[in-house]
Amino acid sequence: MRVEDGLPRLRVFHPVRGEIEAVVLTRYSDVRAAFADERLVTGNGIDATLPRTLFNRPGFLPAYSGPEHSRLRRMLTGSFTVRQVEQLRPAMETMVCDHLDAMVEHGPVVDLVEAFALPIPSLTICELLDVPYGTRSMFQRCSQVITDGTADADRLVAASAELNVAMADIVTRNRATPGDGVLGTVVREHGAELTDDELIGFGTTLLVGGHETTATMLALSVLALLRNPHQLAALRDDPAVTGTAVEELLRHLAIPAPLLRTAVADIDLNGNRIDAGEHVLLSPLTADR
Ligand code: HEM
Repeated sequence: MRVEDGLPRLRVFHPVRGEIEAVVLTRYSDVRAAFADERLVTGNGIDATLPRTLFNRPGFLPAYSGPEHSRLRRMLTGSFTVRQVEQLRPAMETMVCDHLDAMVEHGPVVDLVEAFALPIPSLTICELLDVPYGTRSMFQRCSQVITDGTADADRLVAASAELNVAMADIVTRNRATPGDGVLGTVVREHGAELTDDELIGFGTTLLVGGHETTATMLALSVLALLRNPHQLAALRDDPAVTGTAVEELLRHLAIPAPLLRTAVADIDLNGNRIDAGEHVLLSPLTADR
């Protein structure tokens, strides 16, 4: 597809909309241009005619576009400034060291996902959201259903509802006494501007988006480095390249599923036409290689 002229239209499966036809973008230049084009929108809010899943509920940020997206997104930026995230460093360093020590103590063979890749981001997101770590098997199971891309609408609705119930408790607690976590901060700074349902949506979106992605990256990054010993040696020999290595691993592993947009106007994308109303699928996986 990358070397052929024009843009293919394919039938693809979408977790909320079912089977749809979409223009599929696989070339770097096309995907890059599409990400930057405001006429290609992620969603127009929540669609009450479609099943209520994590992807289609109030507070799920990627479902919004334009001013409504900015309104909600603005409420979270205070919790994710560089300074704010930097404050997590000492606690995270201790947590990482403890887990590495436990792996050494356990000795070979040790399961990297169970011992490290899943607990580190799970503990971090629990800390950020005031979610009890004891509920991890529930939210990890639900996240897996939601992100694995093959679950049908019934399973998606059920997993989303289970997360909702748990997050509703945390929202109630933070409404009564705002804590130091992300939801407490949002309640303190913007509590009157959003509903409980939107707050629950923020919480479940961050809970799922904030641990599954990072867990997958940690596990696959170690595998990629073990399969490429020269790259592993380069990283070991010079810790200054760590930042570049993370960027390169994000590019190379390209873990996000293809991203769907909808054209709200006729668009000329690098000489190819996309009509208003057409769905467009962006594939970082192919574009980044
Ligand atoms: C390696 C780790 C991660 C990867 C690969 C990743 C990937 C992505 C991708 C591909 C999107 C959609 C972007 C789009 O539609 O244009 C996204 C959105 C988002 N991610 Fe992540 N993510 C990661 C970690 C996190 C973490 C740790 C958090 C929270 C603590 C987070 C929270 C979000 C949120 C809130 C959105 C929606 C943003 C919006 O619509 O304004 N992500 N992420």
